[in-house]
Amino acid sequence: MERELALEIVRVTELGALASASWIGRGDKDAADDAATTAIRSMFDSVSIDGTVVIGEGEMDDAPMLYIGEKVGNKRGPLVDVAVDPLEGTEVVAAGLQNAQSVIAIADKGSLLHAPDIYMEKLACGPELVGKLSLEDPVEITLTKAAHHLGKSLSEMTVMVLDRERHAGLINSLRQAGVRIKLLSHGDVAGAIAAALPESGVDLYLGSGGAPEGVLAAAALKCLGGEMQGQLLPQGPFELQRCMRMGIANPTRVLYMDDMVGTGDVIFAATGVTSGEFLNGVRFIGKDRAETHSVIMRAQSRTIRYIRSIHFLPGKEIPQGTAGKKVASL
Ligand code: FBP
Repeated sequence: MERELALEIVRVTELGALASASWIGRGDKDAADDAATTAIRSMFDSVSIDGTVVIGEGEMDDAPMLYIGEKVGNKRGPLVDVAVDPLEGTEVVAAGLQNAQSVIAIADKGSLLHAPDIYMEKLACGPELVGKLSLEDPVEITLTKAAHHLGKSLSEMTVMVLDRERHAGLINSLRQAGVRIKLLSHGDVAGAIAAALPESGVDLYLGSGGAPEGVLAAAALKCLGGEMQGQLLPQGPFELQRCMRMGIANPTRVLYMDDMVGTGDVIFAATGVTSGEFLNGVRFIGKDRAETHSVIMRAQSRTIRYIRSIHFLPGKEIPQGTAGKKVASL
């Protein structure tokens, strides 16, 4: 993949973020998602890739745009897999809360795991802990190993976890061990990434969240030199069948980086919609400008670029989905 592609991809996430930001706090998560999806889908037409969506808005029958298997790009570039979450944190935007972003990862064709939309148990860490931890260990062992390799005491460690009822046991174990806990309300792509960003102060990310978000986070962690391990958590025969349909023969085995993002190059881009762990959200300035904050990273070079853009809105075509038409009439 050409490195110039990274800048083309970030223009796509910027448009998704700008479109959905019109819906911050308006209490309509579907409209916010529709706005981001419409904008991202249309922007992809100008991107120099021959892409296939492997993680998107759902299966063809359930999603009108960015469905799994949909072709995106102008076909004047490399054959790639595309993982896209036009709005990671739909409820967050609807409620006007923190940590929503538009996210895209692309990788050589055949590299990205076709993850079904079910839960995945996750462990994410930064470069110092790569190859040192196992998702199959009890949490107490994981913490002890992590503390040892980081040269910290348990009380000096910070673990990030999604704030969910299902994590009560995990949170209890973390408290018993004496580590600091940072609870996240939504948006576990950003949570997992935080574990590999030294400035976040987060040492580990643990707990379950969406499997598609797990693959997106793995793409980012590859660019950051960190690691993600995941285990799909199919609930009942229907979800097991979905795993099989997506080509996952052994749905409960632990998945490592190569299983989720392959061995080749990966480009990851995200633009903040509302401010979060490492990106600022969209800020509207006066009547006609908006500021976006994005990150763009590439596994091959491990360069991390933060891009702050000021957009002149009258000169920018933000495609109008159903949501866009609704907001224009408000
Ligand atoms: P959406 O974009 O689908 O709203 O997902 C937000 C999110 O917080 C993800 O980041 C996370 O993986 C998932 O929801 C967790 O699911 P749940 O809210 O069911 O615990």
